[in-house]
Amino acid sequence: MSPAAGNGAGDGATNTPAAGDGNANAVGNAAARAGGSGAARMIDLRSDTVTRPTEAMRAAMAAAPVGDDCYGDDPTVLELERRTAEILGKEAAMYVPTGTMSNQLALRAHTEPGDAVLIGPGAHIWFGEGGAPSPISGVVIRPLDGERGMFGAATLRAALNLDMGTVRARMQAPVRLVCAENTHNGAGGTVWPPDVLREMLAAAREAGLATHLDGARLWHATAATGIPEAEFAAGFDTVNACFSKALGAPLGSALAGPAGLIERARRFKQLYGGGFRQAGIVAAGALYALEHHRGRLAEDHARAGTLARGLAAIPGLEVDVKGVETNIVRFRTVAVDAPEFAGRCRERGVLLNAYSRRDLRIIPHLHTTDDDVEQALETFRRAASV
Ligand SMILES: Cc1ncc(COP(=O)(O)O)c(C=O)c1O
Repeated sequence: MSPAAGNGAGDGATNTPAAGDGNANAVGNAAARAGGSGAARMIDLRSDTVTRPTEAMRAAMAAAPVGDDCYGDDPTVLELERRTAEILGKEAAMYVPTGTMSNQLALRAHTEPGDAVLIGPGAHIWFGEGGAPSPISGVVIRPLDGERGMFGAATLRAALNLDMGTVRARMQAPVRLVCAENTHNGAGGTVWPPDVLREMLAAAREAGLATHLDGARLWHATAATGIPEAEFAAGFDTVNACFSKALGAPLGSALAGPAGLIERARRFKQLYGGGFRQAGIVAAGALYALEHHRGRLAEDHARAGTLARGLAAIPGLEVDVKGVETNIVRFRTVAVDAPEFAGRCRERGVLLNAYSRRDLRIIPHLHTTDDDVEQALETFRRAASV
């Protein structure tokens, strides 16, 4: 496992407030990114979640017909759920405020307290969601070994075989669910090879396990490979997909799967306070993002590649250039502490996340331009040579 893969935490790293006043509207417009307030312009590479709704997205949101999500009659939410289920190739989908809620509702819907859940290395569900599986679902997480956030059929079978035919089998929590993450945030945006995924899912089926895909950034796996989201999602019972990461929507995720299971998850959505009334306002942003921003993600991947190659040429920094498959670039400092490096960059106008003493992450997104990439690399060069 790479050092970075050991930390799947999403966006809660060493953060600094973004510049601007939240009024960034025009994609790629530098003045707008600075909030139009005359504040010093920051290049924010902390995450693909820091985007602001574009002017056109805001117009779509303002015009959205709405109802009441708790009554199930918000037409924009219903349309978003229909369209998301269609893209993911599932029978039904349910709109929820966050990816964390979507994943945790999946765990709750698939399991009963006391069950065990198998999960890959560095998974967000395990590391980045506040310890939720334990208090919310009462499940035991059993981590699997793997490389770059992935694990194969053999690893899964070995983990299950440990329990079989011994007295331990009766003493252990029964395994009900296996979760995978694609793309894998903690490992640096890695994409599961389809054959590895297929074989792992076959092994899970063979063992009678339910399967959940944390596809927060499944859109990126599709943009990187040309394989439709539905093909990656096929074989999983449920899928989480996020609209607020890279697609540029202000918030929201969806849990997709069989209608019966999604109905069961709806009961828990209400229980956890996830019914969000006139949610059509924000669902319209997600619908807009699906139709207008999903097709541009390769641009982010290209900029991530440029950033990785630039970082590799800077003495004092280490990056696995080939490992950058999508929009996430994880890199390491050789000598300087990563939080110190991030602080130097912040002083020079570039925001990034430090995850440990040596690990950092940057993610170009909807508002990142080629000029930003050049400027960020120059900043990294200076910060590394202080
Ligand atoms: C892979 C992955 N899953 C789930 C989440 C959780 O999403 P949210 O921040 O909307 O709760 C994140 C957030 O970064 C993520 O990276």
